[in-house]
Amino acid sequence: MRKIITFCFCVFAIVSWSKETYTQEQVGVHNKSADCWLVVEGNVYNITDYLPKHEKYTISLPDYCGKDATEAWNTKGTKGEPHVKKAKLLLKKYFVGELIKSSS
Ligand code: HEM
Repeated sequence: MRKIITFCFCVFAIVSWSKETYTQEQVGVHNKSADCWLVVEGNVYNITDYLPKHEKYTISLPDYCGKDATEAWNTKGTKGEPHVKKAKLLLKKYFVGELIKSSS
């Protein structure tokens, strides 16, 4: 039993310690359609591959590249309503790490 607990702890530790973290400055470098990262609720997403697929929804996603897009994401820009569950699951696919406060 102790071996199992130790094993579970190690797996948990490796998974949590290996999580990538980025500052807003690092995210800000990825500010164009060809290389687009954004922040939603403290998580960083590389949505470059998804951008063309969102074009049908009129709103211009590239405007949010390199920025904290939490409010825009939660309101769909000017729609004032959150994305549907399907969109939330889709966003997870593009997760690359967590935002941390810059040291400066
Ligand atoms: C961050 C800024 C974003 C804004 C301002 C935004 C805005 C919008 C708007 C206006 C629509 C059309 C909704 C309608 O006509 O009712 C929409 C739909 C959608 N968006 Fe976004 N979007 C953003 C980011 C994203 C991202 C990053 C993803 C996925 C990775 C995504 C996935 C979808 C999907 C799947 C839909 C269709 C389902 C739904 O309406 O929730 N969006 N978005």
